[in-house]
Amino acid sequence: MSKIPTVALSNGVLMPAAVFGVYQIRDPKECQKAVESALAAGYRAIDTAASYGNERAVGEAIKASGIDRRELFITTKLWVEDASEEGAKRAIARSLELLGLDYLDLFLIHQPVGDVYGAWRTMQGFYQEAVLRAIGVSNFAADRFVDFAHHNAVVPHVNQIEINPFCQQKEALPILKQFGTVPEAWAPFAEGRNNLFANPTLVSVARRVGRTVGQVVLRYIHQLGAVVIAKTVRPERMAENLGIFDFELDAEDMKQIAALDLNTSQFFSHRDPKIIEWMCTRHIEH
Ligand SMILES: NC(=O)c1ccc[n+]([C@@H]2O[C@H](COP(=O)([O-])OP(=O)(O)OC[C@H]3O[C@@H](n4cnc5c(N)ncnc54)[C@H](OP(=O)(O)O)[C@@H]3O)[C@@H](O)[C@H]2O)c1
Repeated sequence: MSKIPTVALSNGVLMPAAVFGVYQIRDPKECQKAVESALAAGYRAIDTAASYGNERAVGEAIKASGIDRRELFITTKLWVEDASEEGAKRAIARSLELLGLDYLDLFLIHQPVGDVYGAWRTMQGFYQEAVLRAIGVSNFAADRFVDFAHHNAVVPHVNQIEINPFCQQKEALPILKQFGTVPEAWAPFAEGRNNLFANPTLVSVARRVGRTVGQVVLRYIHQLGAVVIAKTVRPERMAENLGIFDFELDAEDMKQIAALDLNTSQFFSHRDPKIIEWMCTRHIEH
């Protein structure tokens, strides 16, 4: 495996360009095992969330790995019920405790819902005290993002959004760049939806470059300028998903994959009132 490059956030903090995600690895033993395998495979960045219910298991894996804390880049996220000035204080303390850490490398507002301005004020305070090395948002569409960036002292260092071949965020990426905010791609494989792994264009590019479809997809998103997060519970796929930094897609490959964009989420719309209702009322047991 080639070395994982880093991306400099606007505050100078270096973030690995490839992150291991643990969404939907709910069983604590399975989650701990997956994170231990990911660290053994070479990952140094882990993406979890209060909402995933597995911060404790991630913390156990970090401890068991024996890896120097300074080599790791740990991200977690604030769920909607804690999106307020006081709620964020509780959430940060709880996440640190569950993860067994005394600082976080990146803390994100998970959804653009609730009192996100209040939460951000608290996050800015913890950022000034270096309890959070970087702070950001997630699922902020371009219009919400521009408003938020204009009305806060600290512009989000990261916006974690869905980016995959069918949802390429062609409007959002240049806007994030303008604000110096690093895009981070969730569900880079669209969780396999729309038959991604058998897509004829992706299969043909993969054949041409002698790589797997998964590697082509992650490399494409990397070349778009986003940090990629991939989830797998299989060690051989962890190695595969890290093997994207020793080849390049040429302009023709990029053009062909760009044409796959359907310009829509493969999951749900943040404009759907039913989804927002679900977010507003969902309670997490810790
Ligand atoms: N901020 C947010 O709202 C948000 C939302 C969703 C996700 N995320 C983050 O983004 C991470 C990634 O997203 P995701 O887990 O939803 O989806 P994803 O990474 O697009 O897809 C994961 C699926 O792809 C399979 N897979 C992984 N590598 C593969 C490969 N090389 N070849 C074939 N199949 C492969 C995995 O199966 P196996 O495990 O069986 O290998 C799993 O079923 C999450 O874990 C989470 O950290 C954030």
